Amino acid sequence: VQFKMYHPDKKKQELPVSFEDWEQQARERLADGPYHYIADGAGSGNTAGENRRALDNWRLLPRMMVDTENRDLSIQLLGEHLPFPVLMAPIGVQTIAHEEGELAAARAAKQTGVPYVASTASSFTMERIAEELDDAPKWFQLYWGKDKNVTASFLQRAEEAGYSAIVATLDTQMLSWREKDLENGYLPFLQAEGIANYLSDPAFRAKLERPPEEDIAAAVQQFVEIFTNAALSWEDLAFLRRQTNLPIVLKGVLDPEDVKKALEYDINGFIVSNHGGRQVDGTVAAIDMLPEMVEAAGGRVPVLMDSGIRRGADVIKALALGAEAVLVGRPYIYGLAVDGENGAYEVLRNLLADTDLTMGLTGRARMKDIDRSLVRRQK
Ligand code: FNR
Repeated sequence: VQFKMYHPDKKKQELPVSFEDWEQQARERLADGPYHYIADGAGSGNTAGENRRALDNWRLLPRMMVDTENRDLSIQLLGEHLPFPVLMAPIGVQTIAHEEGELAAARAAKQTGVPYVASTASSFTMERIAEELDDAPKWFQLYWGKDKNVTASFLQRAEEAGYSAIVATLDTQMLSWREKDLENGYLPFLQAEGIANYLSDPAFRAKLERPPEEDIAAAVQQFVEIFTNAALSWEDLAFLRRQTNLPIVLKGVLDPEDVKKALEYDINGFIVSNHGGRQVDGTVAAIDMLPEMVEAAGGRVPVLMDSGIRRGADVIKALALGAEAVLVGRPYIYGLAVDGENGAYEVLRNLLADTDLTMGLTGRARMKDIDRSLVRRQK
């Protein structure tokens, strides 16, 4: 990855650098429906704000006079060597941001070496996205609905398409209260473009009286019926474990008791997350729960974190509090909205460059040097 450097010619850059400017430019390009769907949180938006306040409340304490000339940001995660402690969070229906959607985002991932986590609700099939990623690192995110045959089929397809881990999202057993989406009457899944993985799935198609090519309305209706499952409970995790040999990472956990419970089911990792503030209004910030979650995992499996990561300092704080890696969501979607593949790539490489600089400037040259001594909580 070519990191952006200061420009000695002092030319004004065409693309933004700051997160706020990317968001602003995306706002100008997107209609109200898609913009609010992407940007807003659940309810009052309090959790989304709290993610930022909490990250800001942890402060870095740099060390001086440490040789950081040669910095190594690479990590080992679930048996894979990754160049950076960063992944692209699973985000559904990316064609609402840019017509090339997930395919453009996947190419940006491939250019950086940052793993791409493909959402169940992608606008392209998991096979098509995997083809675009080629040999680049890729995980598949599972929305785990009511139909066990469809779930089993998705897992099998993900294995065959070359995904190396399954991210099972636990915090979306129902869609939350999202006020602007309700006002705008906007829910992108209710169109064919949000359900590509279902329309192409043999187990899903077997449930339909007529193929979706002939009756898309009935197919969407069937999707709505099975997409979520509020009845899911811990026993169901045993089913998931039996269905795949791939590592299973649970996303959307905040309580250490859930980590302890999940470890009984041979789970391979956790993503501490409140879904970027999009599910429960008023939850704790993901970053604030990280230390306890890491303690509950007891070094047995890796703990990752997302929700609110915007800059290099945020990445370093999460690593210092025990995360093996972080995921970023909205930042790369804004890049995608502004300039497709190039925008998403630009956002990622800037975040990586900022992380690299922050690491060096805080006196850390390797990942293992980033520990709890690097952070202080303000209040
Ligand atoms: C998401 N997220 C998400 N998560 C998931 O497991 N499956 C999905 O399909 C989606 N879809 C989705 C759409 C949009 C528009 C957003 C913004 C988010 C949640 C995502 O993976 C991640 O947890 C958050 O985005 C992280 O917070 P930040 O980085 O956006 O603050």
